[in-house]
Amino acid sequence: MPQTLKRASAQRALDVTPYSPALGAEVRGVNLANGLDLRTYREIRAALLEHQVLFFKEQTEIPPQTQIEIGRMFGELHMHPAAPHMHGYPEIFEIYVGEDSKVANGEFWHSDVSCDEVPPLGTILQLHILPEIGGDTLFANMYAAYDALSEPMRKMLSGLSALHESEHVYRERYSDRGVDDTARRYPEATHPVVRTHPETGRKALYVNRTFTTRINELQEAESNAVLEFLFDHCEGVDFQIRYRWERNEVAFWDNRCAMHRAIWDYWPEQRKGRRVTIKGDRPT
Ligand code: SIN
Repeated sequence: MPQTLKRASAQRALDVTPYSPALGAEVRGVNLANGLDLRTYREIRAALLEHQVLFFKEQTEIPPQTQIEIGRMFGELHMHPAAPHMHGYPEIFEIYVGEDSKVANGEFWHSDVSCDEVPPLGTILQLHILPEIGGDTLFANMYAAYDALSEPMRKMLSGLSALHESEHVYRERYSDRGVDDTARRYPEATHPVVRTHPETGRKALYVNRTFTTRINELQEAESNAVLEFLFDHCEGVDFQIRYRWERNEVAFWDNRCAMHRAIWDYWPEQRKGRRVTIKGDRPT
């Protein structure tokens, strides 16, 4: 190996191994429970932009305050409009599914809270309790979904915007966890169907089956048909991976260019973890 290359790799704190040609990478060489130094933060940020979702291997449980501090290195934290937070830590969204759950979080393809005017940049999730088998998460590459469209289709989509709603998603969703939302109004927002990632400059499809309800510029029947096509297209196996978790592993995904879906195939077993979500930019 040339001397310069050897020096460069010796200086790198992290070992980042691609997970699949579609997207994703496994990360070793850091235990997030100890917090992040600036150099490691920079390497993680660069790796996230390159791979869209990172899986941190061989982790121990991250103290809640440390998870908050790590999230804040990437930006201001986002408060979830519906989900219950961890007692004493409003920035932490507790993921929990058990025998009595009526729904599981993230069961359908989505980009987190795309119904917000300024939807999240990314999400950092650690899972502490896993079922014996199952509870995988799927991730899909929305750059690749965009790139695979024909030129005329890209051209048509480039001028369109879509409505992302959440009333139908969140109303009474967390009632089984003690949330009374009678006085709440849930967000909705209009975003471009194709967004440009603010850091990489790449174009990505930005519609998802959970929140996107209408393409504003089309007639209703046209909107339904185009959205149905786009949902099926984005969810195609060529653009996705399926991640099988180990206890205490951490996933960090970029909501601006990746969608995900959590599989609830483990009832009546439990799955539990904590997530912090980082605020992003208004999609353009
Ligand atoms: C989510 O945050 O959308 C759920 C992800 C998961 O539980 O795997």
